[in-house]
Amino acid sequence: MKNILVIYGSKYGSSEQYAHMIEKNIKCKTVKAESITSDMIKSACMLIFIGGIYAGKLKGLDALHKKIHLFNGNKVILIAVGASPYDESAVKHLREKCTKGFPEGTAFFYARGSYNENGMTFTDRTMCRMLRKSISKKAPDELEPWMIAMLEAGENSCSWVNESYLQPVYTYIKAAQ
Ligand SMILES: Cc1cc2nc3c(=O)[nH]c(=O)nc-3n(C[C@H](O)[C@H](O)[C@H](O)COP(=O)(O)O)c2cc1C
Repeated sequence: MKNILVIYGSKYGSSEQYAHMIEKNIKCKTVKAESITSDMIKSACMLIFIGGIYAGKLKGLDALHKKIHLFNGNKVILIAVGASPYDESAVKHLREKCTKGFPEGTAFFYARGSYNENGMTFTDRTMCRMLRKSISKKAPDELEPWMIAMLEAGENSCSWVNESYLQPVYTYIKAAQ
């Protein structure tokens, strides 16, 4: 398949890492979400968007959303990258929210990223620390998977980036070609 365009929205690098893994595996062009042009979208046969989750939204997805009406190809794939371990109901909820306004049949995948409070901007770090403090007061049976992950990470630098998360994406692309 020609003209596969990989678009990434990444603040702390995990989504960018996944985009480069895809680039090494399949013939494609890779671009930051901030740099997409109308011509890139018009000439693509397949779009693969990969973006970090920030408070339930994918970084950079708005930029693609604005141009998606220009897409004439046949497959759109969205990949959400978050700190949480895979959680079926959270991914289902995210899929419903993120695929709104995208072509019917848009595929949605999840890959685990990273979490490092010390590497965050002051605002993000302050917000995450406050959130972690409030979560730490909850009873164990009230904790959701992402809360447990946040408490476990604490102030440590954690990366769960692993190409195995992309295997279902590669299988999907192969079947579509
Ligand atoms: C302010 C903030 C909000 C976040 N919100 C979520 C979230 O809602 N769900 C989640 O799984 N991870 C969340 N994360 C973790 C990021 O999704 C994770 O660090 C991911 O690897 C970011 O992708 P990037 O490195 O490509 O920017 C959040 C991180 C920050 C700093």
